[in-house]
Amino acid sequence: MNVHAAALAKAYPFDEATSAFAGDVIGDLARHPKRLSPKYFYDATGSELFEQITVLPEYYPTRTELGILRDRGDEIAAIIPGGAALVEFGAGATPTARLLLEHCEFAAYVPVAISGDFLKAQADGLRKDFPDLGIYPVAADFTTPFALPEAVATMPKVGFFPGSTLGNFEPSEALAFLRSARQILGHGAQMIIGVDLEKDERVLYDAYNDAAGVTARFNLNVLVRINRELGGNFDLSGFTHRSIYNRDRHRIEMHLISRKAQTVRILGNTFAFRPGESIHTENSYKYSLPRFTALARSAGWTVRESWTDANTMFSVHALVAD
Ligand code: AVJ
Repeated sequence: MNVHAAALAKAYPFDEATSAFAGDVIGDLARHPKRLSPKYFYDATGSELFEQITVLPEYYPTRTELGILRDRGDEIAAIIPGGAALVEFGAGATPTARLLLEHCEFAAYVPVAISGDFLKAQADGLRKDFPDLGIYPVAADFTTPFALPEAVATMPKVGFFPGSTLGNFEPSEALAFLRSARQILGHGAQMIIGVDLEKDERVLYDAYNDAAGVTARFNLNVLVRINRELGGNFDLSGFTHRSIYNRDRHRIEMHLISRKAQTVRILGNTFAFRPGESIHTENSYKYSLPRFTALARSAGWTVRESWTDANTMFSVHALVAD
């Protein structure tokens, strides 16, 4: 618990997760420039909006990754040892995991995610379709070390990190995550990871500024969540969605821009906004194949195979732990 969260816990009867949310929001909005963590996008509405994003015509990553995994299913199956455990980091409602589970003969599936309830619901759904698969959900923050279930201890391990979730990490965090995954999975483990690629700026721009405005609603929803869960008074019409490509830093940045001078109150704190002032809400890093290979190498992984779609929009890599 950080300082803000500890003080807030005294003043407001919040559960632990809400206190952490409050502490982060108040700390991050007091910074210059202001920011909010993208991990708070995913309340029920945000998760639903993200599902909608994945099927937008402009949002190529999800369908391109699924296409690669489908096209290369046999090649992937061929490098996966029999009786292995698939360990998915940050398991969402992922159709991607199902695709791998259908193609390959895994003995166990270990979805790792923070929300225990969500994990349980997902596991129940999978049990019906894969009756022979051992399913061992782990409720943990996958960016920090956690223990694998005893039941998979002797199985070969295959990590899975799809969706270019890696892109949300700063380069130093991405390195730390890959090192930690290497540590958790152990020597000789493999990892299948989906990584979005640098490309024509227009294509990137459109993917995060869709014509239907779903990404804008997704971005603004974090303010709705602050209003609801923390009693904030953000005026939604006072902020506008902006995504830009930062070419020097190889990343899409999402911002919420204040349309006017205004103040917002959250849990007894007042935050002043200048007209045009930004809240930086997300980075989505894009990699080149050599930059990703170098990153994996310095984290103790060797790239065994890299697959892309025909237009080199997205990449899927099979890594082997050194
Ligand atoms: C879930 C982090 C991979 O960066 O493309 C989609 C999130 N943000 N549109 C991405 C997102 C805006 C997404 N990731």
